Amino acid sequence: MKGLILSGGRGTRLRPITYTRAKQLVPVANKPVLFYGLEALVAAGIRDIGIVVGDTQAEIREAVGDGARWGATVTYIEQDAPRGLAHAVLISEAFIGGEPFVMYLGDNLLNRGIAGFVEEFARERPAAQILLARVPDPQMFGVAELANGRVVRLVEKPAEPRSDLALVGVYMFGPSVFDAVKAIRPSARDELEITDAIQHLVDAGLEVRPHVVDGWWKDTGKLEDILEANRLILDTIEPRIEGTVDDASRVEGKVIVSPGAIIERSVVRGPVVIGADARITHAYVGPFTAIGDRVELRDTEIEHSIVLEGARITDLANRIEDSLIGRHVVISRLPVRPSAYRFMLGDNSEVSIRW
Ligand code: G1P
Repeated sequence: MKGLILSGGRGTRLRPITYTRAKQLVPVANKPVLFYGLEALVAAGIRDIGIVVGDTQAEIREAVGDGARWGATVTYIEQDAPRGLAHAVLISEAFIGGEPFVMYLGDNLLNRGIAGFVEEFARERPAAQILLARVPDPQMFGVAELANGRVVRLVEKPAEPRSDLALVGVYMFGPSVFDAVKAIRPSARDELEITDAIQHLVDAGLEVRPHVVDGWWKDTGKLEDILEANRLILDTIEPRIEGTVDDASRVEGKVIVSPGAIIERSVVRGPVVIGADARITHAYVGPFTAIGDRVELRDTEIEHSIVLEGARITDLANRIEDSLIGRHVVISRLPVRPSAYRFMLGDNSEVSIRW
């Protein structure tokens, strides 16, 4: 059994972060989203893994390398443009080489892993196995309609969803999927949709086995979802203090303080992860916050946020929350008059200020 991780895509819903970083490398609890997918495949016994890459391939290759860190062998498959998930399958045919495979979207996170599903698929060998999750906003996803436990219809981002069962971005396929991806035509958004390819299997009378996942599932394509994934993962961390915490500080609850990090005159209330060589001075870091490597926080309060490496936040009058702050961003307070905001923000940045 092989694995195929999709790591192309432009991540438009996460701009401006994704102007300078692949969306699959945005960290959740200080670890790139993509690594959770790799770990899930390896935990399911899959070690021969292809990664479909696009514009951001240099960064993905640098982060993942040859896969040895996970005990896996990684092969990179280049997609010239984001032409759809089924197109990614199409160009991976030589790599898959007729074996059954698991396709895993590189921005998806599943807390219970996939080992049980993979084992069942390998044993029973239906044409495809799909995972479904109940969501409040099914029009944002591929949606499945079931009848008597069987898949009847799959529609990509329907305006009027016939159910609340979204297609999770983890799919298991046998070789018949290659006929399907060759048979379908591009959708209205000009992509070859995997949803249409699976519908093609259903129409051909092949078995497409659905499973509703228990536990949580997150597609981390947007800010709220990244923050929620961060919250869910932080809830599961094992605390450890490898940096320095001075006597004037309080570290409460589940907190990871990475090597070289310094916490002085501060309160850190977990679950929180603090990256290597970060410096937290006279600050409050509240629950569900991930502070990246080499971040500096001084005279600042922050919670339910993600701060990427090298950012510096100092001297703020109000607490920061629900925020994703990019690499090397500087947020500070001017000690001089006039009392005004001064910004240098990248394209598509978002700033909300208390009224
Ligand atoms: C893709 C699929 C969709 C699926 C979703 C899961 O959507 O097309 O069917 O429900 O992933 O993450 P996209 O993220 O490309 O909009």
